Amino acid sequence: MLSHFPLSASEFDGPVLVTGAGGCIGSWVLALLTHAGVPVSAFDLKADTRRPALLMSDADLKKVHWYEGDIADTAAVKAAVEHSKARAIIHLAALQVPFCRANPVGGALVNVVGTVNVFEAAKEAGIKRLSYASSVAAYGALENGGAMATLYGAYKYCNEQTAKVYSEENGVHSVGIRPGVVYGVGRDQGMTSKTTVALLAAAANQAYDIPFSGHVSWLFAAEAASAFIRSVAKEREGAPVFDLNGVYASVEEGMAILKTIAPAAKVGIKGEQLAFPMDKSDEPLKAFIGDYGQMPLAQGIEATYKAFVQLLQDKRLSASAIA
Ligand SMILES: NC(=O)c1ccc[n+]([C@@H]2O[C@H](COP(=O)([O-])OP(=O)(O)OC[C@H]3O[C@@H](n4cnc5c(N)ncnc54)[C@H](O)[C@@H]3O)[C@@H](O)[C@H]2O)c1
Repeated sequence: MLSHFPLSASEFDGPVLVTGAGGCIGSWVLALLTHAGVPVSAFDLKADTRRPALLMSDADLKKVHWYEGDIADTAAVKAAVEHSKARAIIHLAALQVPFCRANPVGGALVNVVGTVNVFEAAKEAGIKRLSYASSVAAYGALENGGAMATLYGAYKYCNEQTAKVYSEENGVHSVGIRPGVVYGVGRDQGMTSKTTVALLAAAANQAYDIPFSGHVSWLFAAEAASAFIRSVAKEREGAPVFDLNGVYASVEEGMAILKTIAPAAKVGIKGEQLAFPMDKSDEPLKAFIGDYGQMPLAQGIEATYKAFVQLLQDKRLSASAIA
């Protein structure tokens, strides 16, 4: 699976520091980078390797040096960048929609101040390769953006504006990516994680209702990770921001594919369509960073379902994650 995504260690001039490395996309970033032989360090609240361990061997996990710290802590972020001798940063640490809704101040500290900290640390260390996660939810912060307004989206849009100013005023250039709905092993939290939860439920022979319907983006987690990595595979100029949606298809279509692989799956679909514009093209990103590997929907769903079956069988994952 990892070799599906093109990556060569020769494109990197030193270690890559990944923030939010214990999360879903972060875990795939660690897996892809270590698999390619690129030195990598991780920054997260805790050195919690539960998600990365779903994807990586113990030997590869041991290659990752972890920095425990709060992204909102300026000194901790600067120290991690300095000590890791990072030449590139992939900034993924964030709190998602429900967490920002429940704790707006905490969400702003992590998503807004945390991102400013990353740019400050990058400025101080002279980092010339930086990619960071915005979100399709940022469209909610635009007039007529076609998306529901959320604090999460407002913070993400603020990140994009922050990036532009750091590029213009400080020469800290970056690539911002607005993923749609990510699915795959490791996707277990956030409003849009439920298509993945349905695949896990099917693998565990449990009934599950996805709480939204209609068209979404099906963005395979490794594809998203690969795009963040390719964005820092060379030095860039400016602060462009790109959409990243993978395959635009309905929840119903995805579940029909699942049924061909697991005919006994008991998955229902309830609720409205998600109010985010997930039909936006990935072509501008592809044109800017080159090929990062695309995952066809049927292949991605089958790989995820089979991985869950295996992980449950090996007792490396518990069905209690289904909620
Ligand atoms: N998953 C998606 O569908 C999706 C879609 C659009 C954008 N994004 C963005 O991509 C990035 C990664 O998403 P994900 O799905 O891997 O998220 P995730 O929730 O799985 O992981 C986020 C990680 O950030 C860490 N984190 C949270 N607060 C922190 C803090 N104060 N200090 C340090 N680390 C902290 C968490 O511990 C976690 O490991 C995020 O910025 C997210 O907003 C994700």
